[in-house]
Amino acid sequence: MQVEVGKINELPPGGMKAIEVSGKEIVLCNYEGKIFAIDRRCGHMNAPLDKGTSEGYIVTCPMHNAQFDLTTGEILSDPIPRPRPSDFMHWFGMLMSNIKTHNIKTYPVKIDGETIKIEI
Ligand code: FES
Repeated sequence: MQVEVGKINELPPGGMKAIEVSGKEIVLCNYEGKIFAIDRRCGHMNAPLDKGTSEGYIVTCPMHNAQFDLTTGEILSDPIPRPRPSDFMHWFGMLMSNIKTHNIKTYPVKIDGETIKIEI
């Protein structure tokens, strides 16, 4: 099913925009003028990736810094807990290291004039 999700001029180069389609949370990404659609939720612990950063083809999660290739959804870098001085955070980091981080899903994008459509 192809769904209209926005206009190209709403998404500047390097920009990300969260949308919801048929109950799916998706992020549109403009990488060098080409639009990609990825799952909004991180493959680690579900943080919203649109609150992270997008540099080139790499999206970085805002919570523990896992990185994903926005063209394929493949995980490029595992989560890295931010250093914290307390013992609790050390314990939490040890616990988190046992949580597997999954690839994220990508969705085919079609540009129809100025309209962005994705296949879901
Ligand atoms: S929730 Fe994204 S890296 Fe942990």
